[in-house]
Formats: sequence, structure tokens, C-alpha cells
Amino acid sequence: MRVIPVVAALAGTSSASTMFIQMTAAQLNYQWAVTGWSADCAETGCHYDFNITGTANETVIPARPGFKAHCSGEGEGAPYQECTQLESDSEHLRVVASLLPSSNNTVNGTRQAHLQVSMKHTDPEVSTTFYNYTGHGYGTYGPSSAALQDFLVQVDDFYGVG
Ligand SMILES: *[C@@H]1O[C@H](CO)[C@@H](O)[C@H](O)[C@H]1NC(C)=O
Ligand SMILES: *[C@@H]1O[C@H](CO)[C@@H](O)[C@H](O)[C@H]1NC(C)=O
Ligand SMILES: *[C@@H]1O[C@H](CO)[C@@H](O)[C@H](O)[C@H]1NC(C)=O
Ligand SMILES: *[C@@H]1O[C@H](CO)[C@@H](O)[C@H](O)[C@H]1NC(C)=O
Ligand SMILES: *[C@@H]1O[C@H](CO)[C@@H](O)[C@H](O)[C@H]1NC(C)=O
Repeated sequence: MRVIPVVAALAGTSSASTMFIQMTAAQLNYQWAVTGWSADCAETGCHYDFNITGTANETVIPARPGFKAHCSGEGEGAPYQECTQLESDSEHLRVVASLLPSSNNTVNGTRQAHLQVSMKHTDPEVSTTFYNYTGHGYGTYGPSSAALQDFLVQVDDFYGVG
């Protein structure tokens, strides 16, 4: 029950036992680092591969877990695909990724890829309490000879249920 008063305080209510809170990107001030990004499109569709890390932050409320995951999948507009935890507590943490339909913007002649990533963190002490963060970032598509890219994913949506 440790987390619930905290969530209640954020939500501005203290009566309910189940709460739903939302915050904007500016309020969150939270980024994840994409490293080793590669993506390419062929007739069969677009494919992506990257690592993503989040730095632990114990001073914000709710606390943010550190994580590193490897994500690989395909299809613009496809549903979220599960990422593999590399060094995190996979029992309480889940990371998923998807490519959003591209706006067809080009950067230096290369088409931009719109990445969406979501991380869900379950409170280790209260299994019914969880936090769900979603962020967006931009990489570019291929060619397959292109150098691997690093960029940030800006977390822009968050809710918690406790
Ligand atoms: C992801 O990180 C692992 C080690 O944590 C490394 O072996 C792998 O090469 C990295 N992959 C990419 C795409 O950077
Ligand atoms: C934790 O988040 C707060 C608020 O965004 C920030 O001021 C602080 O620098 C962060 N700490 C770490 C270790 O990232
Ligand atoms: C991007 O270009 C492709 C191929 O021309 C087209 O099918 C798709 O609708 C375009 N997407 C947008 C968002 O304009
Ligand atoms: C576009 O190309 C310029 C010149 O080579 C480079 O400085 C810039 O970083 C490139 N932009 C991106 C997003 O790769
Ligand atoms: C976060 O919530 C969204 C919306 O309900 C959901 O689509 C997504 O799968 C959740 N993220 C994780 C990592 O479970």
C-alpha cells in the first residue's frame, strides 16, 4: 500500500483506491536513449533494430526504474512488439516498440522513421500498482550500409494505476 498515497496526492484525490493519473512531456522531463538504431524498408515492409536504456531516478515520484532492452520488429503501423530485457528486472518491467506510419518527411534525403516505445513498470511490493510510460523519437531508414544512429525518445505520456 506504500505507493497509493503518493499516487493519490498526484491525482489530487485521497478517497479512491484506484487512481488514474496523467502527465505531459514537460511535466515528465523524461527521456530514454536509443543506441545502435538501424532501420530499412524493402518491398516486404520496414524493419528496425535498436537498444534502449532508461536511467533510474529514485528522487522523482513515482521512482523510475533503470532498464536496458533490445527491440527488433517490423511494419509501419504494426502493433507493439515485445522488446527483450537485457539487464533489467523483467518480472516487473516490460518494454514494447512499434513504428508509426511515417509522414514521409526526409532528413538529408533519407526518409524519417517515427518510433513509439512504451515501458510498463509494476511496483515490486504492490503487484496491482503499475506505471505506464510512452514516448516518441525519430530515426531514419537505411540504406543498410548507413551508420548506426543514436537519438533520444521523449516520454510524452504517462499514467499510473494503484
Ligand atoms: C545492445 O546491447 C548489447 C549489450 O548490452 C550488445 O551486445 C548489442 O550489440 C547492442 N545492440 C545494438 C543494436 O546496439
Ligand atoms: C530525476 O528527475 C528529476 C526531475 O525531473 C531531475 O531533476 C533529476 O536530475 C533526476 N535525477 C536523475 C539521477 O536523473
Ligand atoms: C508515405 O508514402 C507512401 C508511399 O508513397 C504512401 O503509401 C503513404 O501513404 C505515405 N504516408 C503518408 C503519411 O503520407
Ligand atoms: C544532415 O547533414 C548535415 C551535413 O552533413 C549534418 O550536419 C546533419 O547532422 C545531418 N542531419 C541529420 C539529422 O542526420
Ligand atoms: C501502456 O499502455 C498502452 C495503452 O493502454 C498499451 O497499449 C501499452 O501496451 C502499455 N505498455 C506496456 C509496456 O505494456
